Amino acid sequence: MTVMRNAAAALVLLAALASPRYAHAADPCQLEISGNDQMQYDKQVLTVPASCKQVTVTLHHTGKLPREAMGHNWVLVSAADFNAVATSGTAAGLANDYVQPDDKRVLAHTKTIGGGQTTSSTFPTSVLKPGGDYRYLCTYPGHNALMRGTFRFG
Ligand code: CO
Repeated sequence: MTVMRNAAAALVLLAALASPRYAHAADPCQLEISGNDQMQYDKQVLTVPASCKQVTVTLHHTGKLPREAMGHNWVLVSAADFNAVATSGTAAGLANDYVQPDDKRVLAHTKTIGGGQTTSSTFPTSVLKPGGDYRYLCTYPGHNALMRGTFRFG
């Protein structure tokens, strides 16, 4: 009977683990960040454990302004490449989401969105080194002065 009780308890536990709510709260490889009409992200640090094989970053624009006026994206770079990627992103223009096509310094990026929109980027962590010095930014012209943060992996 003890075996049966343990089996029943295990099933209850498995059902709890499989529930969407638990899975969402427990998945450290799924990150959320928001940008607003005041040119701000809501987070200055994002952290991913080294156990993640891939990461999904979902960006929400909580404002109302269109992307032509207050566009936001999320671009991941090595800290050393921050300024260069910001500059070439500006030059790339909105048609390219303010990211130079095939820029190898860009480790991951989302599209550029406007108020009320959401976008996401899924990328393998094989592009990162545990403990590396990474930053994220919005490459819409001028935004990186405020819209920047530290990305920790491992
Ligand atoms: Co922006």
